[in-house]
Amino acid sequence: MVGKDRFFSDLGRSYKPGIITEIVLAAFEMAKKGKKLISLTGGSYDPPSLPVAEIREVLQEVPDTAWREILQYGSNQGYWRLRDALSKFMKGSEITVDPEREVLVTTGSQQALDLISRVFINEGDIIGVGSPTYLAALSAFKQFSPRFLTIPVGDEGLNLGALEEELERLRREGKGMKMLYVVPSFQNPTGVVMPQPNRRRLLEMAEEHDFLIVEDNPYGYIAFEGEPPTPIKAFDEGGRVIYLSTFSKIVSPGLRIGWVAAEEEIVKKLAIAKSAVDLCSDGLSQYVASELLSRGVVERQVRKVTDVYREKRDLMLESMEVYFPKEAEWNRPRGGLFLWVRLPEGVDASEMVFEAVERGVAYIPGSNFFTDPSKTNYMRLNYSFPSKEGIVEGIKILGDLLKERV
Ligand SMILES: Cc1ncc(COP(=O)(O)O)c(C=O)c1O
Repeated sequence: MVGKDRFFSDLGRSYKPGIITEIVLAAFEMAKKGKKLISLTGGSYDPPSLPVAEIREVLQEVPDTAWREILQYGSNQGYWRLRDALSKFMKGSEITVDPEREVLVTTGSQQALDLISRVFINEGDIIGVGSPTYLAALSAFKQFSPRFLTIPVGDEGLNLGALEEELERLRREGKGMKMLYVVPSFQNPTGVVMPQPNRRRLLEMAEEHDFLIVEDNPYGYIAFEGEPPTPIKAFDEGGRVIYLSTFSKIVSPGLRIGWVAAEEEIVKKLAIAKSAVDLCSDGLSQYVASELLSRGVVERQVRKVTDVYREKRDLMLESMEVYFPKEAEWNRPRGGLFLWVRLPEGVDASEMVFEAVERGVAYIPGSNFFTDPSKTNYMRLNYSFPSKEGIVEGIKILGDLLKERV
């Protein structure tokens, strides 16, 4: 059969399956052969901790009038009760926003990344990103062909000295960075946290060099030691920060509830872009989300998953101590869902992953989180989704394989 490639747009042609699709396909093949696969890949929720009973209760108690609102088209900015509840929830993170004008509900925060790309990025615009950073943010931005300015990420998150140098260089060339994408709290994939003074400094830099900050905060609530870090948005007096967050890591990824908090002008524009994409977010999910917030379920879930994920992190770390070769290095994340592993130069985690899948464990090769895919000696391991037995077994399989390679 003749393919339909000639009909695709340039953008359509640019959508290609990545290694993650290949890993998923390999996993399907394994399942077909009746073999089990332990997944240390995506950032999925701990299955037993999902708030099933709480959501069932909300659904059983929906008043008739509410059903008639839920089942209609809704506002493209989001269900007003949810926006109101989200603005109260953000107060807990010291963020003050007007729910009428400064909050937009999105279909997961991934949609917010897509809308931001549509609304802000022209071809060739300079967009700052961490190296490494969240891979699907890169995918969203790439749709609009920006130029990436990559800033190294170290133990304190984005290296602000390196950023400053780049900004000065751009200034000398008569150019400027339009937007900086940052995951300051328990970053994906490295788990690192940007210290408070750096957050304030970043805001000053945004003023000095006139750029916007997209602060993506799915993980900040899941803090294993001490209080969750205060988001950059909390200090944002100049309206430079477009803040994103989501229910995906704290309540349920399947509800697809994300949100944006930003200045009115930006929220309005993003809401218009959203109406071209999906008219409005799902009414039932938004209703459930607003009830979970007002009944205190979200706060309870945050406490619950924090305890569960702390235990799972510790178990993964202990297992790595036992089974991983001494040449591998890894961090001890103080929150979030992931461990970041550095392998000796020359060990190719992208190539090794298919052998790992054959043996019954999958992970995400680190090269996917860099704009420069030549960094192949890293891997990201997730501990939120696998069972405790799966963590121990998966790390043992991976450790044995690594010992053969290093
Ligand atoms: C940093 C970051 N941003 C955004 C997302 C997207 O989450 P969702 O669309 O489920 O809200 C994720 C998911 O893993 C993430 O890690």
